[in-house]
Amino acid sequence: MFTIITGSQFGDEGKGKIVDLLAKDYDIVARFQGGDNAGHTVKAGGKVYKLHLIPSGFLLDSRVLIGPGTVLNPAVLAEEMEMLEEAGVPVTSEKLGVDAKTSVIMPYHIEMDGLREAARSEKIGTTKRGIGYAYIDKVARDEIRMADLVDEERLRSRLAEISAQKEATIVQMGGDASIVLDDEKISRYAALGQMLAPYVTDVSLEINRALDEGKNVLAEGAQGSHLDVIHGTQKYVTSSSTIAGSACAGLGVGPTRVDEVLGIVKAYITRVGAGPLPTELEDEAGKHLHDVGHEFGTTTGRSRRCGWFDLPLVKKAAYLNGYTSLALTKLDVLTGLNPIKICVGYMSEGQKLDYPPESTTVLSECVPVYEDFPGWEEDLTDVDSYEKLPENARLYVEKMEELIGVPIKYVSVGPAREQTFEK
Ligand code: IMP
Ligand code: MG
Repeated sequence: MFTIITGSQFGDEGKGKIVDLLAKDYDIVARFQGGDNAGHTVKAGGKVYKLHLIPSGFLLDSRVLIGPGTVLNPAVLAEEMEMLEEAGVPVTSEKLGVDAKTSVIMPYHIEMDGLREAARSEKIGTTKRGIGYAYIDKVARDEIRMADLVDEERLRSRLAEISAQKEATIVQMGGDASIVLDDEKISRYAALGQMLAPYVTDVSLEINRALDEGKNVLAEGAQGSHLDVIHGTQKYVTSSSTIAGSACAGLGVGPTRVDEVLGIVKAYITRVGAGPLPTELEDEAGKHLHDVGHEFGTTTGRSRRCGWFDLPLVKKAAYLNGYTSLALTKLDVLTGLNPIKICVGYMSEGQKLDYPPESTTVLSECVPVYEDFPGWEEDLTDVDSYEKLPENARLYVEKMEELIGVPIKYVSVGPAREQTFEK
């Protein structure tokens, strides 16, 4: 079985915890896009793990793979491996594989990302991890791949080939070009390459063989559907394709092999960084969502912007991804809000829309049209089955399901593994 999980909003929907929950049924869990701009928090056995690169399935028996569609900072990977080792979860080469074709995030990519963002009059709010510039190099065919990193001679000859152009770009951007051939940094990268060499693999081959043998594979998305570089709210997006189809392209698995596409939906909406968020709240309800939901970015620690559930955006995500089912997260955060609002459409240029407009600028000017739903006062964090939810919480879930038109399979009411149940 091949299952793909993606975020239906702007990331931080709780993909990590759902992957952690499902991973016990999967032989392989694979990341297919993005890099250490992602941040997933997994809470298990009383411990909290905050990771950026290693897939969320690492705690279970599954093999975890980083596919060639991702961009990888080897220093961050090494840090995460060390942190897990210290926590008593050793990451061996039987456990983790990294594709030989994966693009490596070099120190100059991070430098360029920062310089470019500083020069933008309207900021995107990037995580400054070098993601965009690493992807530019992949498309330009100027990237350094894992296969180059693990072979110091190849790494240095590749750098010799591209360094002049990188230096010129950095100078043009107003930066210090010495970072490109900084020998200390290159030696450190070469050493990381040696350390990571045993982990290098062919992810497409591994996954296809596993599927041939009847094994189960889970593809874990990062970020969210509306941060997709093609279909998202440009320019306020990340630099990779975040939707389900990207799992096939990024991992090298044909679309005919996909069995399930699970969408993760937060019971409200958040966004980190700039860009339209039609239901954004700056009142008491917004403060409630932010404080009760602990809405701070895992990667940057920035405060997440919060708003009421935005149906048009999730309907679009259902189209972009072809969801077969959904997991609804953070329902517990809505306790105490009354009424609870759902944005069922927008007013835009005198017209009522029930689907997001194509243009980012038009979306940013949309005024939400809300429907009110009765709230509840009961704490949900100890609820362990759907039947035990207060009636109004069940009504809210069922209304969402009806409005989105995709069955809700899981509901979660807290960060721990035990706080998720099937509907
Ligand atoms: P970049 O991916 O660092 O280039 O950032 C581009 C935009 O995507 C910024 O608005 C970031 O805040 C946002 N972003 C990137 N990764 C994540 C994530 O994992 N969760 C939420 N937002 C993200
Ligand atoms: Mg996150």
